[in-house]
Amino acid sequence: MEYMHHPVLAQEVLEQLSPPAKNPLMIDCTLGEGGHALLFLERYPDLRVIGLDRDPHIIEKAKKRLAPFKERFTAVNTWFDEYLTAYDQEAPSAILFDLGISIYHYEESGRGFSFGRSEDLDMRLDPSAPFSVADIVNTFREKEIADIIFTNGEERYGRRIASAICNYRNKQPITRSDELAAIIRQAVPASYRYGRIHPATRTFQALRIAVNNELDRIVPAVDRAIEILRPKGRVAVISFHSLEDRPVKHLFRKRADGCVCPPEAPRCTCGGKPAITILTKKPIVPSEQECQENPPSRSAKLRVAEKLEDYP
Ligand SMILES: C[S@@+](CC[C@H](N)C(=O)[O-])C[C@H]1O[C@@H](n2cnc3c(N)ncnc32)[C@H](O)[C@@H]1O
Repeated sequence: MEYMHHPVLAQEVLEQLSPPAKNPLMIDCTLGEGGHALLFLERYPDLRVIGLDRDPHIIEKAKKRLAPFKERFTAVNTWFDEYLTAYDQEAPSAILFDLGISIYHYEESGRGFSFGRSEDLDMRLDPSAPFSVADIVNTFREKEIADIIFTNGEERYGRRIASAICNYRNKQPITRSDELAAIIRQAVPASYRYGRIHPATRTFQALRIAVNNELDRIVPAVDRAIEILRPKGRVAVISFHSLEDRPVKHLFRKRADGCVCPPEAPRCTCGGKPAITILTKKPIVPSEQECQENPPSRSAKLRVAEKLEDYP
């Protein structure tokens, strides 16, 4: 069975990033299977899109899907923060981030993203990255594993889970996703085992974030996106949990204010200029209908900012 990722908050993103200029350029920093990119290319006939994704497998799917748009679409297999840092070409009028991973990763990739499947424990988006999730759970110290689970998953049973992982691996290495899910299930209290979410949800999220260094990439990338946008260009960020959303909210505030003086400074001496205006005082969230039709959209939040015309 083939699964297709539904682009989240599609209509809202299409409206918020509607290109103002003639022959505009958009950078889709998280191309995935190209769901958002396809909608933009269809809706705005003179738009060109550069699509980025670090996963070489999913980007091939997007390339096939978007081939009919010929030279209007270019795919680049890269981390978005690295690409944007080095970017010195034409200023885009729109930049989109749709953070996290795609349905493809859970359902088709075979890389152990889903605790409901029996697959190799890998979870790397970049297959050449130095270590996988199996390396973390089999070789990192117990405290390091506990810290990862707590910091990247906000999992309150992080210590118990890390201890259970280390006890298990003393007998045999942990190699499969369902094996890790079973260890976590056994480690947590019974009440948590039958709670609202599967007890392995947060730990799997935390390990995935760690192996791809996901959180450290967001702020430098969004900050750089603001720099390279053309005047009145817009940046939109869709996040799925507070660890992604909070730093974006703070960054937007900082760049809208301009001042980077320490909060205790009596007056501004940095001379920083506001770079953006925030268009979403409160984040846009999916409608009831979207949540019902596409349950993974439930936790999505969209924040949008526009670059000021007179920012140097
Ligand atoms: C939620 S999916 C995007 C779905 C896409 N908007 C669509 O509608 O089909 C996020 C994608 O971004 C990629 N990704 C996540 N973090 C990345 C990063 N830091 N650099 C490049 N690609 C990244 C993932 O591999 C995944 O394919």
